Amino acid sequence: MAKQNIYDNETFFSGYMELRKREVNANNLFEIPTLYKLLPDLTGKRVLDLGCGSGERCVDYMKRGALKVTGIDISEKMLEVARSENADPGITYLNMPVEDIDSIDEEFDVVISSLVLHYVEDFQGVVKNVYRLLSEGGIFLFSQEHPINTCYSGNFDRWTRDENGRKIYANVADYCIEQKNDHTWFVEGVSRYHRMFSTVINTLTDAGFRIMRIEEPHPDEELVKKYPDYDDLFHKPDFLFVKAGK
Ligand SMILES: C[S@@+](CC[C@H](N)C(=O)[O-])C[C@H]1O[C@@H](n2cnc3c(N)ncnc32)[C@H](O)[C@@H]1O
Repeated sequence: MAKQNIYDNETFFSGYMELRKREVNANNLFEIPTLYKLLPDLTGKRVLDLGCGSGERCVDYMKRGALKVTGIDISEKMLEVARSENADPGITYLNMPVEDIDSIDEEFDVVISSLVLHYVEDFQGVVKNVYRLLSEGGIFLFSQEHPINTCYSGNFDRWTRDENGRKIYANVADYCIEQKNDHTWFVEGVSRYHRMFSTVINTLTDAGFRIMRIEEPHPDEELVKKYPDYDDLFHKPDFLFVKAGK
């Protein structure tokens, strides 16, 4: 199956890193706080981070008491940053696609994946492998782009706006067609695999997981007062979080 390594594209990489360096971005405001809210106690735990990127979270997991963290990523550029800026004796960074974790012969207590799995075609294969790699009672916690976003193919206007340009409706099409959708984000042709919410959940339960918590982060009135641009998240969430137990 196809594996995309868009983070090694020079233009994409610099655009993405610049976005992540901004203090105010959706990751800092919504994604990371929700991830930490759902994180189990990591004390003494063996953690696997699927698509660890530049490794900031891996360092945080060590600070939260993890015994060791293995961070894997398909992008050598992201791993270069991880190894130079976020090294730690307890962390091992591996250049490995998530699709190849069947080659790992090790047990983990917690598998975490932050905004990666919408890039993966064979979600079912990954879920089965995560289940196999987890110890009994282990936790699989991941975020992905919300299915209401991954169905967007770029073939229509994302938003209906009023005469002042304010977003009043999010336009949704093809939600029930599960397919690869390419869109433009820093560069053209960034592929995401759209799966319905039901498919995500049923794939997990079919593999043996128990769903523990679902989150769809969105701002509160206080946050929107401070950052009014984020009021479009009242129409639709950007991210979906699932916490599942073995
Ligand atoms: C949005 S970034 C998130 C990085 C990190 N998890 C974080 O939250 O800061 C997505 C990461 O997933 C990686 N990625 C995308 N497809 C992948 C795949 N098939 N296997 C492994 N890593 C992948 C990218 O290289 C990139 O580092």
